[in-house]
Amino acid sequence: MIVVTGATGNIGRELVERLLAAGVGVRAVSRDPERAGLPAGVEVVRADLTDGADLGALLAGARALFLNIAATGLEAGALIEAATKAGVRRIVFNSSMSVTDTPADEEGFIARAHAAAERAIRDSGLEWTFVRGGMYATNALQWAEQIRSEGVVRGAYAEAVGAPVHEADLADLAAAALLDTTGTHLGQAYVATGPAGVTMAEQVAAIGRALGRPDVRFEEISFEEAVAAMERAGAPRVAAEDIIRYFGASVGQEALVTDAVQRVTGHPARSFEQWARDHVADFR
Ligand SMILES: NC(=O)c1ccc[n+]([C@@H]2O[C@H](COP(=O)([O-])OP(=O)(O)OC[C@H]3O[C@@H](n4cnc5c(N)ncnc54)[C@H](OP(=O)(O)O)[C@@H]3O)[C@@H](O)[C@H]2O)c1
Repeated sequence: MIVVTGATGNIGRELVERLLAAGVGVRAVSRDPERAGLPAGVEVVRADLTDGADLGALLAGARALFLNIAATGLEAGALIEAATKAGVRRIVFNSSMSVTDTPADEEGFIARAHAAAERAIRDSGLEWTFVRGGMYATNALQWAEQIRSEGVVRGAYAEAVGAPVHEADLADLAAAALLDTTGTHLGQAYVATGPAGVTMAEQVAAIGRALGRPDVRFEEISFEEAVAAMERAGAPRVAAEDIIRYFGASVGQEALVTDAVQRVTGHPARSFEQWARDHVADFR
């Protein structure tokens, strides 16, 4: 039995499919099992991980845990401790490329949150693998409404560059680590990126191409306007500032591209063009 947190999210949904296909029992966590829409055969457990859920019951009988702090909030310590007590043997943590194992991990909001969870997992004595994802391709979903209504995406840096990683690749990595019986992935921190650098403007253009809408374009706004827009969309101000500053610093740089997806899964990382084609329905 493998417990999957964030099971209805971008990565979680893909991961659940892979674990089921491998014939493993899956216990998926959701605040709203009726709306979870997960495949038959998954045990869906109702729990709010930020609000006093019965963690012991959630983890009973599980041998592994997929931890996504999108689900636990920044305080993942309680779940990690409960996993240890419940006899879980392995944690695969959906971490972030912002963690670099340097003092810089204490500086940014995002790095600090993920580094703290990594530390707690290391200290737990459990087997672990960290999937340190770079910029998620799914971040582009936040543009869906702007693309639908106006065909214009507004952000602070058109030339900000990253190598967006497809959620299917992150799920492939997590599944490999959760299912592995050889120990190959234990104690590994995989920095996972897409196959190539893509600027914000290029991402928007790729979505336009996938939609057959060459009019779709990126328009620059100020740093402050971009922070305010992210705040309106629900991001904490510190996180919004962190992310946009990070984008600003990437302008004119070469995006970090790693071979972790290829190395671990045996297939090349999926491109942003591919991601846009896979998500056409989200932008119509
Ligand atoms: N965005 C990036 O560029 C980036 C880069 C590196 C790392 N990351 C990491 O990836 C995470 C996002 O992963 P994702 O895109 O797969 O997540 P996501 O699609 O946003 O999914 C969030 C999941 O968390 C669950 N959830 C939320 N609050 C919960 C609560 N209180 N109790 C229980 N479950 C709860 C939701 O389930 P229900 O709604 O069904 O309850 C949902 O399944 C980030 O938080 C960050 O840690 C992101």
